[in-house]
Amino acid sequence: MNDKILIFGSGLLGKALGSYLPQNFERRIISHRECDIMNVEGLRKIVAEYSPTIIVNAAAITDVDYCETHQQEAFIVNAAGAGYVASIARDYGARLIHFSTDYVFDGSKEGLYSEDEEVNPLNTYAKSKYEGEQLVKFSGANYLIARVQWLFGEFRETFIDKSIIKLKQGEEVDAVIDQFGSPTYVKYVVYAVGRLLNTDYIGVVHISSDGVCSRYEQLMFICDLLKLQAGLVRKKKWGNFKCAAIRPHHIQLNTERLYKLTGFRLPHWKDEVKEYIMYRYGREI
Ligand SMILES: NC(=O)c1ccc[n+]([C@@H]2O[C@H](COP(=O)([O-])OP(=O)(O)OC[C@H]3O[C@@H](n4cnc5c(N)ncnc54)[C@H](OP(=O)(O)O)[C@@H]3O)[C@@H](O)[C@H]2O)c1
Repeated sequence: MNDKILIFGSGLLGKALGSYLPQNFERRIISHRECDIMNVEGLRKIVAEYSPTIIVNAAAITDVDYCETHQQEAFIVNAAGAGYVASIARDYGARLIHFSTDYVFDGSKEGLYSEDEEVNPLNTYAKSKYEGEQLVKFSGANYLIARVQWLFGEFRETFIDKSIIKLKQGEEVDAVIDQFGSPTYVKYVVYAVGRLLNTDYIGVVHISSDGVCSRYEQLMFICDLLKLQAGLVRKKKWGNFKCAAIRPHHIQLNTERLYKLTGFRLPHWKDEVKEYIMYRYGREI
């Protein structure tokens, strides 16, 4: 029997899962409009009707500054909602793939963060996501928590697309020089998840690209690729912005566990950005 995957959340990652999972997975994506993950009866009805072997929770409130100013809502969806989805996965005997974030770490460490490193979430989004992880862990579900970071892809405009649009119009773009992470193409996150589904691993797995950069370095690389005016990119420090939420300074995830489990490593962020840029904007060069 083919696996049947039910995906909650039709955002960047949810849609990428719908597109890039291997064909042998039968799939269905449930948007927020179709079912709010806080609607337990609605969740149960959808799960009972579809009878998935795998449930994916890619639904969350992901706007970090919004979470800071709407703390209760953030905890309700990102923590309690994660717990509801996990308990339903347990009740129906489905494997659960739950997505979390590198922001569970505070970014003060020199070097790479492994899955077992101590967490210290700095903002409400990160705290709500970590609480979600805990509820998933203790739900009794057959779970896998995938921590990802700095995602981009063709299913939602992210920093890359917004910046390209502005630069093409001759507008200036602010890019941060003092926050570092690994930009990751959602397509490769899905490839990693596809491979992890062939394992029966229960626990946390980091999925991110090789290498690390600042938003400024990322944009300079893109300007070079697309021959955009690099002079329009203004170097900024986080301190220059009046953001509601504080962010970790430097996070590079250790992805050895993914490699040991699957033999799969994600490419370097530059290769992924180049692949995406060529796919999305290549004809315009
Ligand atoms: N994007 C990143 O760089 C990044 C980094 C680290 C971790 N992650 C994690 O990866 C996962 C997927 O992120 P993403 O980038 O795909 O986010 P996204 O594009 O913002 O998609 C999230 C989806 O969740 C839906 N949603 C929000 N509240 C909901 C609710 N109460 N019930 C049902 N659906 C709800 C949203 O629908 P509406 O928009 O209609 O509300 C949206 O379709 C999340 O767990 C996120 O924390 C993402």
